[in-house]
Amino acid sequence: MKIADKVRNIFPAEKEIPKAAAVRPLEQKEYLLDGKLKRWRGPAQKVFSPVSVHLGKKGLERKYLGSYPLMTEKEALDALNAAVNAYDEGKGSWPTSTVEERIARVEDFVYRMRERRTAVVKLLMWEIGKSLEDSEKEFDRTVDYIVDTINALKDLDRTSSRFSITQGVIAQIKRAPLGVALCMGPYNYPLNETFTTLIPAILMGNTVVFKPPKYGVLLHRPLLEAFRDSFPKGVVNTLYGAGRRIIGPIMKTGKVDVLAFIGSSKVADILKQQHPKPHRLRCVLGLDAKNAGIVLPDADIDLAVGESLTGALSYNGQRCTALKILFVHRSIRSEFLKKLITGIDGIKTGMPWEPGVKITPLPEDEKIPYLAGVIADAKKHGAKVINESGGLTNGNFVYPAVVYPVNKRMRLWREEQFGPVIPVAPFDDIKEPLKYVVDSDFGQQVSVFGADMNKIAPMLDTLVNQVCRVNINSQCQRGPDIFPFTGRKDSAEGTLSVSDALRVFSIRTLVAAKDSSANKKLIRSIIRGRKSKFLSTDFIL
Ligand code: G3H
Repeated sequence: MKIADKVRNIFPAEKEIPKAAAVRPLEQKEYLLDGKLKRWRGPAQKVFSPVSVHLGKKGLERKYLGSYPLMTEKEALDALNAAVNAYDEGKGSWPTSTVEERIARVEDFVYRMRERRTAVVKLLMWEIGKSLEDSEKEFDRTVDYIVDTINALKDLDRTSSRFSITQGVIAQIKRAPLGVALCMGPYNYPLNETFTTLIPAILMGNTVVFKPPKYGVLLHRPLLEAFRDSFPKGVVNTLYGAGRRIIGPIMKTGKVDVLAFIGSSKVADILKQQHPKPHRLRCVLGLDAKNAGIVLPDADIDLAVGESLTGALSYNGQRCTALKILFVHRSIRSEFLKKLITGIDGIKTGMPWEPGVKITPLPEDEKIPYLAGVIADAKKHGAKVINESGGLTNGNFVYPAVVYPVNKRMRLWREEQFGPVIPVAPFDDIKEPLKYVVDSDFGQQVSVFGADMNKIAPMLDTLVNQVCRVNINSQCQRGPDIFPFTGRKDSAEGTLSVSDALRVFSIRTLVAAKDSSANKKLIRSIIRGRKSKFLSTDFIL
């Protein structure tokens, strides 16, 4: 079948949706506030899938998935106050509980979470159009992340269970919570990237308000009971609705101590500026990126093409770590582009439940005209779409486009397209892509494809001071999750990873005393009498 025909027939009729994938609308009326599932009686936001069903002559209709509460400033402040009260200026039961107690609660949560896998995965797939396979991976990766984080915290606590005696001062140094954390993840990893901040924040003794992203809301509903039953009241509170309406008022109170946000730098800047006490606010931000792939003349072209395809097109290019521009040496560009196009032809397009599918419909309505706009702009400045049916659209489905040759006058040169468009720029001198990376507003990662160590080594030494991960002969990516994940410039603030996240959601605090016999006696009696949760030599086994 020709690609254009495939795209024209991409959406199924209702009866063609397999039983196992079928979904019933979920009208969410509940939200978690101060340990209770409250009933919402106000307006609701309807949720439609990026997947449409074909209604014959009537055309396409987006699949209706249900609705969620559209909250107001009042509920936002209620959620914040519940978290503030649970923290209780650091005196609350959660921030003063032992690490062991907190770990036990999170273990209980993850046990309950595992039981809801099927429901969460199905909603994830339908709400954001992520393939079933990748939705399952996102769920499992999140569970693994929680388990690994618990183990990392045990290690951290073990090393801080001892005292130091230095220059006549006895001290015990531990990590203490920061206060109230506001956690917001992105739509492309609505579960994983929300939980990679939410869980470490909780584990370190903070209390939390969390708001799911614009797309990927309902999938959190099956976990509300688990949150309610696993944690003391007020430790986790949920918020739903338009960010502009409910997040601004929370930030303006000055009561948020940590802003954990994964999204655009534009929104992050607005949120930060709303907080009246900038030095009180700690920010953990994962922001924009425009990761470049640089293909040197001696690169293994098959390998570079394979990595570029998955790097640029996994989940339709909607990953912050996606390769968003490729620089290919002019001497190999013809072979590279030929193989890239052949590779695209072989990628399976379709509905998210189809086995092996890679390219699926996009959740953001506005992304469809946006992508058409950046392609038109590139054409205006001399580029072409060089693959068959590249950029062809049907409903929210966009067939991947390879745009060549891209140059600095084009929007695709600098804008993060976050979609299935692969801009390719030829280069003659390695200084050209290196200058691109230096001049870019972003500094997350880069990929370098080549074989000659004499060429690659000096590039590495330049690039590591421009971005935060240089990938040799492989695509850019976040994982393994124990590796630090961060960026420079407009790409991030703070570092996430299994162990780094525990650090960003806490602060080193110590109890210190002069090494006198009276102080030693006092400290000994506090420890032996188990009078303090902080000052303690308990060792987690
Ligand atoms: O969207 C940004 C994600 O953190 C990327 O993670 O590289 O594992 O897809 P990934």
